[in-house]
Amino acid sequence: MWWNFLRTILFQFDPESAHHFGARVLQLFGWVTKGKMPLALHSPRKRSYQLGEFPLHSPLGLAAGFDKDGKLARGISALGFGFTEVGTVTPLPQPGNPSPRLFRLPHSRALINRFGFNSEGAVRVAERLRALRAEGGLPIPMGINLGKNKVTPMDRAAEDYVAAMEQLYAVADYLVVNISSPNTPGLTSLQEGDSLPGLLRSVRECRDRLAKQASGSPRPLFLKLSPDLTDPAMKEAVEQAMNAGFLGIIATNTSRRRELPGISALDLGMLGEEGGLSGAPLRAEALERIKKLRSWMPREACLISAGGLGGADDAEARLEAGANLLQVYTEFVYSGPGYPLDLAKKL
Ligand SMILES: Cc1cc2nc3c(=O)[nH]c(=O)nc-3n(C[C@H](O)[C@H](O)[C@H](O)COP(=O)(O)O)c2cc1C
Repeated sequence: MWWNFLRTILFQFDPESAHHFGARVLQLFGWVTKGKMPLALHSPRKRSYQLGEFPLHSPLGLAAGFDKDGKLARGISALGFGFTEVGTVTPLPQPGNPSPRLFRLPHSRALINRFGFNSEGAVRVAERLRALRAEGGLPIPMGINLGKNKVTPMDRAAEDYVAAMEQLYAVADYLVVNISSPNTPGLTSLQEGDSLPGLLRSVRECRDRLAKQASGSPRPLFLKLSPDLTDPAMKEAVEQAMNAGFLGIIATNTSRRRELPGISALDLGMLGEEGGLSGAPLRAEALERIKKLRSWMPREACLISAGGLGGADDAEARLEAGANLLQVYTEFVYSGPGYPLDLAKKL
C-alpha cells in the first residue's frame, strides 16, 4: 500500500531523477543496516542455490544497470536480494548518452533506456569496492559487469574487457562480459562475428592470469546475451562461451524490438524512443528461451534468467524450466523495495 502511494509520487518525476532519489534512499538504508540480510532469510530455505562456489539465500539477483558504479551494494543486500551485479563498468570513465535516456511504459510494466554505459570507470569503481571489502564486504556475492568504451574501435573491443577486468578482478565474485547492450554502437555485433571466440579467449586468459596472481579459485565468467539474437546465433554464442571456459550465460539484456506481447495501447506513444526495452513484454519469450538454452548447455553450467521477471509463479516456472538463478530490474522498479524479500520467501 505504502509503496503504491510513494510510487505515485516518484512517478511524477522524470525517471532518471526518480532513480537517483531512490538510489540515495537505498544508499542510506545500506549504511543504516550495514548491508545485513533480512532476518526472514536466516532460516533454512526450501531449496539450495549456488553461484559458482557461493551458497545463496535467494536465487534472485539484481540485474546490471541499477547500481552502475557500486554505490548501492549494501542497500541491495539488506533488501533481500541473493546476489547483485555492479555495472556495466567501462575501462575509462564516460558520461553515456544525453538525457532524457530513460522512459516508463507504466501500463505495460516496461522501461526503455538508452543510457549508453554511463560509468565512473574501472579505476574509481575498483577503489570504491576495495573500500567496501576493507569495511567487511557484503553477505551476498557481487558480480561485476564489464563493457567497452564508446570511443574504442570495435576491432579493439577485447582490449577494453581485459583492461576493465585487470582493475576489477580482485573485487568481484564473478565477472560478466556484456556484449548485448543495444545502446553502444556496434556492440551487439560482437555476439555473432568471427571475433567472438578471440574476445572470449582473451577474457578467459586474463582471468586465468589474474587468478594465479591472486592465488584463490578463479572467479567465474558469464556471457550476457541479447534477446534479439536468432536461435542459431544464440546457440553458437553459448557454445563459444562454454568452449572458452565460461561458467554460464545471462539471458537476457534489453530488446531493440517493439513488436512484443503485452505492450499496452496506452504506452504506444513511447515506442518511438530509441533504446532497449525491458520488463513484462519480454516475459513469455524469456521462459521459452530457458528451455532451449538449457538444452544447449552442460548440466554444470549456470543459466541466469533475466528479462521481464514477474512474480513468484513466473520465478518458479523459470527455475523449473532449467534456470539456476534469476535476475530482475524492471519489475523491481514497479513492485518496489519489498519485492526481493517477498519473492525470496516464496521460493
Ligand atoms: C535502466 C536500465 C539500465 C540498464 N543498464 C544495463 C547495463 O548497464 N548493463 C547490462 O548488462 N544490462 C543493463 N540493463 C539490462 C538489465 O540488466 C536486464 O538484463 C534487462 O533489463 C532485462 O531484465 P528486466 O526485464 O527485469 O528489466 C539495464 C536495464 C535497464 C532497465
